[in-house]
Amino acid sequence: MSSSVNESPGGKILAGVVGWPVKHSRSPDVHGYWLGEYNIAGQYDRFEVAPDALAEFLLSLGDRGIAGVNVTLPHKEATFELMDQVDELAGKIAAVNTVTWRDNGILLGTNTDGFGFLENLRHGAPGWRPRKSLATVLGAGGAARAVTAALLSDGWDQVRISNRTRSRAEQIADMMGKSVSVIDWAERSQGLAEAELLVNTTSLGMTGSAALDIVLDDLPAKALVNDIVYVPLRTELLMAAEKRGLEIVDGLGMLLHQARPGFKTWFGVDPEVTAAQRKYVLDAKD
Ligand code: ATR
Repeated sequence: MSSSVNESPGGKILAGVVGWPVKHSRSPDVHGYWLGEYNIAGQYDRFEVAPDALAEFLLSLGDRGIAGVNVTLPHKEATFELMDQVDELAGKIAAVNTVTWRDNGILLGTNTDGFGFLENLRHGAPGWRPRKSLATVLGAGGAARAVTAALLSDGWDQVRISNRTRSRAEQIADMMGKSVSVIDWAERSQGLAEAELLVNTTSLGMTGSAALDIVLDDLPAKALVNDIVYVPLRTELLMAAEKRGLEIVDGLGMLLHQARPGFKTWFGVDPEVTAAQRKYVLDAKD
């Protein structure tokens, strides 16, 4: 009898999410929904792995019979360092969110956050046709890096970043070249003039965090506003944008779409993000 090393003895394909802590991750709900929907003999688990145990865990994915994992905080940068091969976005931002163990023993690291971000905008605002001249990004953490790199790869001319700690924004500009500019956090409202897209990648506005204090008056009428915060789903930023008559896209879709490439690689089906899945993930409890 021969079975693939990436299958458990019961024949189920195994995958999961690695984090520290990991109990709040919604990825098991995202993948679990698809496994049920497509009737796949698979299992998607939470793996709580401390930073000092990460290397041992990832290097033994094959021995553990795990086809691949999503990687969440705080492991995305450390995972990048452990990969045998990485894709273009992961290389550009030195962070990996999806790891696949290949039969030849190679660990492949990809970063699907940028894909998830762009697909969320594409599906969430299908009629939006920006000239792609200028986008403004709030924040300069890992999510801001992925979003900025994705926008540049999608053909945007300029990305303007505003972050409380200016030096972190400048680091992104240094990494990504002259298409990225930086403005002071104090100037964030004035910095919206002429922007066709505003993306909040900070944690401000999330349940339990401080509010995002910004005035949207200077945004052009055709601008789109996207928040990557999705708890709550309708953040104050999105409500303020809607009140101004601007198009909005919430943050849940980025979580759902970024999961698609991993699911396809591990479980063999290119899954669809649907309204029913959105509801399932929103309603899921820990
Ligand atoms: P991630 O990697 O998920 O993007 P992160 O690196 O912790 O997470 O980044 C969180 C972002 O929210 C940062 O841009 C952070 O600003 P700093 O770089 O100055 O820390 C921003 N942020 C968090 N709390 C904030 C606050 N009270 N005011 C302004 N920005 C805040």
